[in-house]
Amino acid sequence: MSAKSFVAVILAVVVVGMVADRFARATMPAPKPGALAEPQSPNQVGFPEQLNKFVVPPDNPQTPAKVALGKALFFDPRLSVDNTVACANCHDPDKGFTDQLPTSMGVHAKFGQRNAPTILNSNFNIEQFWDGRRPTLEDQARDPILNPIEMGMPDQQTVVNKLAAIPEYQKSFMDVFGRAPDYDDLVKAVAVYERTQIAFDSPFDRFMAGDQKGLTADQKRGWAIFNGQGRCMSCHGWNPTRPMFTDDRFHNIGVSAHNAQFVPHARQALALLAQGVGPQEIDRLAISTPMSEVGRFLVTKQPHDIGAFRTMGLRNLFVTQPYFHDGSQATIWDTLDHYNKGGVQNPFLDGGMVVLGLSEQQEDDLAAFLLSLTSQPFMAQAKTEYQRQFKISRTTRPQRDTTAAMGLNGRNGPGFAGPFGDIGPAQSAMGLNPALLGGN
Ligand code: HEC
Ligand code: HEC
Repeated sequence: MSAKSFVAVILAVVVVGMVADRFARATMPAPKPGALAEPQSPNQVGFPEQLNKFVVPPDNPQTPAKVALGKALFFDPRLSVDNTVACANCHDPDKGFTDQLPTSMGVHAKFGQRNAPTILNSNFNIEQFWDGRRPTLEDQARDPILNPIEMGMPDQQTVVNKLAAIPEYQKSFMDVFGRAPDYDDLVKAVAVYERTQIAFDSPFDRFMAGDQKGLTADQKRGWAIFNGQGRCMSCHGWNPTRPMFTDDRFHNIGVSAHNAQFVPHARQALALLAQGVGPQEIDRLAISTPMSEVGRFLVTKQPHDIGAFRTMGLRNLFVTQPYFHDGSQATIWDTLDHYNKGGVQNPFLDGGMVVLGLSEQQEDDLAAFLLSLTSQPFMAQAKTEYQRQFKISRTTRPQRDTTAAMGLNGRNGPGFAGPFGDIGPAQSAMGLNPALLGGN
């Protein structure tokens, strides 16, 4: 090929790439609010009334006008730098308030490092984000608007000026807050709308309320395994007053251990954090740099938090696929295979991760049980997704390691990197040796 035609080919590739980029964006307009975007009544079986009294902050009471304003903002792509990305792009009500992508796409078709969790029941989270870096829904909402690869606005003042130039918002902010648009009021309104997204009333909730027919036989077996041999309950806690299926803690269960450079990234993060970076900068590290994988460590700087992420609640999983903080597992069966072999070995692995020895039937029962945690409005699409994943699970199981799951590898067995948490030479080279945190 001549130099000239080589240049022409390169140019053509670049131009086609740019057009495709535009097209990808253009084909994904911000979702319009449909029936599933409506505020939900708290009158649902299993709704934790006592807990709810604690989660509405006294300085941001719920009012219908504020909810309506928050909803308008949640669906408004004008909150982004190029008017393409609304909160609802990544938290689409018709997809269980997620985007059903492994990791999310923001402005300029840029992908981040993390999977978008659902907004459903997010008012009950003790902390927000996979690493808990923001305590409340109000604080959380400050970040995506200003994150360069999510909504990309340069600063708060630009957002406020943009809203203040839109007549509907001039009026609605005045009606709700008695003053012109302002960033604090904006995040308050969005949080109030999110608090209306309550999702209980699942077969499991009805079963716990005394309806023996609420669960099928395989789901009842799954619930027993969830509490027993599967040890899920030890982290995904449930009780009638806090029925969220989480302990609200952070654990390294080995999700990012596949490609981890835990220690070099932790050292890099420590050096940056020592310069005293603010929450917006931590948000950027978490969303768009490889330091994302150190997880909770970005917030606490505790070595035991390296690679630790928040225990996610387990409701409505069959509308919020794929799974884990990096969206690395396509099906529920893949997540179960991950747990069955004791997670992925690394020195920071949580002590609660052990090989489970679950049979195929037991994994199927657990999956059936997890379907029973689906709220009524999402049940039809969840059943379809369950069937789709079930089919895949009959043929494709990338995480399955039966020898490991049954504990047959032994301390010196094949493929065994070392006892839990121990460092072999191979792991040291992978950047997993905690001693290197202090330098080498
Ligand atoms: C480009 C996609 C994208 C956009 C736009 C976006 N989010 Fe998110 N959202 C995410 C991702 C990814 C996470 C997880 C990030 C993390 O944990 O580090 C997240 C986390 C959250 C959480 C925390 C949920 C939990 O369980 O921890 C809430 C609440 C939330 N977003 C609300 C919003 C609101 C409100 C807006 C608009 C102001 C918004 N998001 C815009 C992708 C997006
Ligand atoms: C040691 C604590 C611990 C145990 C035990 C545990 N989990 Fe988890 N679970 C977590 C944490 C932490 C996450 C988030 C991890 C991440 O993404 O890095 C999680 C995430 C998940 C997810 C993905 C949720 C989502 O929205 O992406 C599923 C599904 C899940 N767990 C199911 C189970 C089941 C079923 C069991 C029992 C077989 C179980 N877990 C046992 C801590 C635990």
